Amino acid sequence: MRRPLIAGNWKMNLGHADALRLADGLFAGIDVPPDRDCAIFPPFTSLQAISEKLRSSPIRVGAQNCYPEPDGAFTGEISCSMLKAAGASMVIIGHSERRHVLGESDAMVSRKVKAALAHRLKPIVCIGETLAERDAGRTSDVVITQLRRGLDGLTADAMRDVILAYEPVWAIGTGKTATPAQAQEVHASLRAELGALFGKPLAEDTLILYGGSVKPSNVDGLMAMPDVDGALVGGASLDESEFHRIIWFEAPEG
Ligand code: 13P
Repeated sequence: MRRPLIAGNWKMNLGHADALRLADGLFAGIDVPPDRDCAIFPPFTSLQAISEKLRSSPIRVGAQNCYPEPDGAFTGEISCSMLKAAGASMVIIGHSERRHVLGESDAMVSRKVKAALAHRLKPIVCIGETLAERDAGRTSDVVITQLRRGLDGLTADAMRDVILAYEPVWAIGTGKTATPAQAQEVHASLRAELGALFGKPLAEDTLILYGGSVKPSNVDGLMAMPDVDGALVGGASLDESEFHRIIWFEAPEG
């Protein structure tokens, strides 16, 4: 049984005071239905304060990135043990903004996934195609290659702690969401590939989130798809009432 996860990626938004205000609002006002999980991913500068604030709430706190080495001369980077000490229990890895703006490779994604798992941080591994790749009919190729390379060398046992997020690049921050059918098609192909790589039981248990312009108006349709197990929400996670409505998506019958 897969327990849905709604995750809010705050990206590089909200100064510390605004981040604390949003976290306070979530703590006071957000009840999470018992059949699902919720997590938020604030900027590093607010991670520790927010994880302390939300310690007794059902909302988990994670980081938006990590570096695979334990320490050393890596100016500007942050290690998994630092994130753990700051209260993170999850980490987003390979977000398309990191791949496309900061040049992060599949090989780096794979190193980060292994480092996160070694520190008992649950990685959310992001994959997704650009519009040009979709238009060229290469969606499946692109996401399966990212999946294989990003998860390279993991055992089925290690995979138990990995979450995948399908985030089509053309849908991120654009207001253009994949239709439920488009998301379902890709999620089903990712699950089939997970089955081939790690066995069917693991594939059936792995959460695959959808991300890309998820809003109160489209979350129910996406979550009605059998292989969509949650959402990775950007813009709408910065608005308390929108995020609340997304957490309270209407569970499909049965
Ligand atoms: P938007 O919801 O703003 O499109 O962002 C999606 C995303 O990138 C989440 O990681």
